[in-house]
This record gives sequence, C-alpha cells and structure tokens, in this order.
Amino acid sequence: MPRTLITSALPYINGIKHLGNLAGSQLPADVYARFKRARGDEVLLICATDEHGTPAELAAAAAGQDVRTYCDEQHALQKRVGDGFGLSWDWFGRSSNPPNHRLTQHFCEALEQNGLIEERVDRMIYSLDDGRFLPDRYVEGTCPHCAFPKARGDQCDNCGRLLDPMDLIDPYSAVSGSKNLEVRDTRHLYLLQSKLADRIRAWLDSKTDFPALTKSIGYKHLDEGLIDRGITRDLAWGVPVMKDGAPRPGFERKVFYVWFDAPIEYIGATVEWSEATGGNWERWWRTDKGADEVRYVEFMGKDNVAFHTVSFPATLLGSEEPWKSVDVLKSFNWLNWYGGKFSTSGKRGVFMDAALELLPADYWRWYLTANAPESADSPFTWEQFQNTVNSDLANVLGNFVNRILKFAETRFDGVVPAGGEPGELETKLFKDIAAGIEALTASLEGMTFRKAAQDLRDLWVTGNGYLTEAAPWTVIKTDPERAAMIVRTGLNLASLFGRLSAPFIPFTAAHIAGAFEGDDGAGWPQADGAAELSRLKLGCKVTAPPVLFAKIEDAQVAEWTARFGGGEDASA
Ligand code: 2FM
Ligand code: ZN
Repeated sequence: MPRTLITSALPYINGIKHLGNLAGSQLPADVYARFKRARGDEVLLICATDEHGTPAELAAAAAGQDVRTYCDEQHALQKRVGDGFGLSWDWFGRSSNPPNHRLTQHFCEALEQNGLIEERVDRMIYSLDDGRFLPDRYVEGTCPHCAFPKARGDQCDNCGRLLDPMDLIDPYSAVSGSKNLEVRDTRHLYLLQSKLADRIRAWLDSKTDFPALTKSIGYKHLDEGLIDRGITRDLAWGVPVMKDGAPRPGFERKVFYVWFDAPIEYIGATVEWSEATGGNWERWWRTDKGADEVRYVEFMGKDNVAFHTVSFPATLLGSEEPWKSVDVLKSFNWLNWYGGKFSTSGKRGVFMDAALELLPADYWRWYLTANAPESADSPFTWEQFQNTVNSDLANVLGNFVNRILKFAETRFDGVVPAGGEPGELETKLFKDIAAGIEALTASLEGMTFRKAAQDLRDLWVTGNGYLTEAAPWTVIKTDPERAAMIVRTGLNLASLFGRLSAPFIPFTAAHIAGAFEGDDGAGWPQADGAAELSRLKLGCKVTAPPVLFAKIEDAQVAEWTARFGGGEDASA
C-alpha cells in the first residue's frame, strides 16, 4: 500500500490563525490527505503548534500569563478550531514536548560531530531599560530593504526579507518601546550553512517535483549566498542547549532558535503520535527503516519556503543520518484582505474561530479551496465569498441533491427504483462523468487545488444539466420505466458527488452519504461513468437530507462587512 506523509507548516502558538493561514497550509494539507486516504494510501497527516521563540514569549507577556500556561491554553484552542474545520490530523503535537527537545539536541550534536557547529561571539542588541538582550521579534525598526517602519528583527512583514536585528534602522524594543539600546557581546552557536551550500543546491536540483514557486524561492536564497546561521538565542523559553548530557557551559541561559527546532517538530510530533498510538515513527522518517518508500509532501505559505528549502535541509543533510526529506513542497501565495494582508498581530481579517461562528466549516473550506492563492496572491472579499457559496454550493450541488432525493421520496417511495435501460442521454453522461473524474483525480494528484475545485464544480454542473434535460418530473407522466432510469441515475450521481466532494467538504459529504442506506461514502471513484452510476443497490432506501447549504443573504454580507472591517481602504 503506498504511504504518504503529509505535514502543514506548524502554526505559531500566538493566537488562533486567520483564514489566510488556513488557506495556505492546513486546509490544502487536509484536502490532500483525505483524497489520498480515499484512494487507499496509508496516510499520516501531522501538524503541531510551534511554541518556542519570541512569538510565544511576547504573546504570553501580552496576555499576562506565564509562557507554559499560555501555550497549554492556546494549543487546546487551536486544536478545537482545527477539529471544527474538519482538519483530519493523525496527530496535532506541540514543539514544546519532550520528543522535540530530544531530537533538537540530537541534531545539534550530530551537526557538531560533523564539524558544522561553531561557537561565535556575537554583537547583539541589549536593552538597558528592559535589562535583557532583544533577539528577533523583541526588536523592531525600519527595514533596510524597503523602509517599512515596523519591520521585525527576524523578518520584514512588508517585503518578506529575512533580517538580522542588527540590520534594522532606528531600532526600538518591542517590549517597552525603549530606544535606550546598546550592542553587547554574547556567545552563540552557529550552523555553518556556507559549508553545505553545494549539497543543498544539489538536493534542490534533485527535487524535480517541486512546483515553480517553491523552486524559485529556494534558488533565490541559494543565489544570494548562504551565510552561517545563529541557532541559539538569549531567551528563557525553548529547547535548552546541552552538551554531553548537561547544560552546555556558557549557554545555561540560552535556548535554541525557534526556527531551528520548529521543523524538527514534524519528526517530534510523529514520535508523540508513536508513543500515544503504538505506531512506528521510524518507518515514516528514517530511510534505513522503510521511509525510503514514503512520499513526503509539505504544505506552507511562501514566507516559510526558505526555511524548508535551505535551513531544514541543512539540518537534515548536515547530520549525515538517513532522514527522509520532502518529495513535494507545495507552497502558496497570500490570501489578501481587501488589498492589504490578513494580519495576526494587526488583527486584520477573519480568524478561524470567528469564521465558524458565522457559518459551518464546509462553506469556508469550499471557498478557500476554490480560491486557493496558488499562482498569485488572491483577494478575499465578502461579495466573492457570497457568490461562490451561493452559486456553487447552494444553487448547484445543494439544489441537485435536494431535487433528486425529494423527487425519489415523493414519487418512488424513497427507494432506488429498478426499471428502464440507459439511453442516449445516459451514454453521453457516463462519458462526461468518466472524463470529469479523471480530470479531478489528476488535479488532486497534482495538488492544483483551484483546478480541482473547478473540475468538481464542472461535475456537479454536468449532473444538474443531465437532470434538467432528462426531466423525470415530465417523463413520469408518460413513461414511468424511463423515469425510474433517470431517477436511479440521478441518485447515483448524488451519491457519487458525495464521495468526490468529501476531501473538500467532508461534513456535507457525510450528510449526502447518510441519505443512502448502506452507503459509507468511502473510497475514491474510478473514471468509469457506467460503473459509478450504477453502484447503489436497487431498492435501497433513500432519505432527503435537510437543506445542505443556506444562501448567504445581502444583509449578512453587510453585517459582516461592518463587523470585520472589510471594504475599508486597504491603506487605512
Ligand atoms: O510561519 C509560521 O507560522 C511558523 N510557525 C511556521 C513553522 S513551520 C515549521 F517549520 F515548523
Ligand atoms: Zn522590508
């Protein structure tokens, strides 16, 4: 049985994520995982909260909580909204858990043994008023590349460039706002990426299945020249720096940099899963233990790609150990919020918990997949959301399922009727459906999600067109045998749509499957229209589900626009 390992970028612990995060990592990972499971693969879908570093410390301080309590609460919250969205993780771990600590320390040791770690004395920003060093996000200032005035010490939110806090112009403390800063010496561990540049390039060259966006970001960073990277920080919360089983001398008050330990948590979370379920993590991650047969796919937004095409491979390759590395890295552009960006820190946009209060998960899942920011940044607008939901889900899929099931209930005693033979219309339908299934399957295999949603919508439209043309409500008056044939075909179409839609809108798919006695909705259809449209047993009981999708009214759009601030000037 083929095995597929799937990870999505690990969401920072600092608050519930917005729809942009969901659209560019966790949701497509789930759609793909559900599709591969339906096709019969053994799938392991792994995610976790990314709990270390300055984002966690700063958010905990803002919430007035100690970091551990803050992380405990936020992890539980993120798990709950993820479940609410139907994200079918096999494990949702925590980077602060022991397996990740052990693995992170192990990787550093292995890298050091291979001559790839060096202690260096750094000059770092120290805040006299805060009485501490200000690594990464603890310092803000003007971006030296694009002049954005609120660039963070680790990365500019405006131009996306990775930064060193020392690069910032007019820096100030993110904790106190103080500009009373000086530069002090502090000792840190450096990973000598410059020594690995050729190997990383050869590794990237070998990844022929990486999409263009991923490759271009990876090569851009390699072409700019790899510099050695500080992998420790002057912070209290994180993975302690050890040597020979004891705190490393001189590093007692330091921890590993969050971007060093976070990707290692893909493995750490798998170990957590193993310990909890009795699963075998090594067959997913060690190529000497069977992981060479695994296809590993990662999902993430474009801001994370450099870390996964350069930094994490540096850790894995530099260890000289047989770790599994990614086969396909599917990356996404931004989902934009009214011309600007969704922003966690700026609280701009709709967040996952709020979204679920407005509408069930499938409405969002469909919209965000059909408008996935794949080839370019995509805008979110309430009007587009309304149009997509109303036209695709309510008018096409919902209407089809409801129409045929109600008709079967009222005119065919609520069973799949026998009688009649396929005619010309059915022959054409079988062909169209087979071609549609083939296209959808190829799009999902290729992880082109917009195209996949388009293919699925086309199938729904084909079904609607068939029913309208075949018109069983008219035919039944003159030719009940023919009407039975049409209704049977229509019911099979509804059941087929449930199975094909399950990766995208799993809650609705379960409702559809529930309409047919004995249908578990499982498995992935073959590209064979005649076979797929005669699956339901004759005489099997059918029950119309409640209305699948309510239309979004203009008044709701107006209310949400006012409440969430959509539609305001993007520069405001
Ligand atoms: O950008 C982010 O949200 C990071 N927390 C992603 C980490 S991905 C992985 F490396 F852990
Ligand atoms: Zn910038």
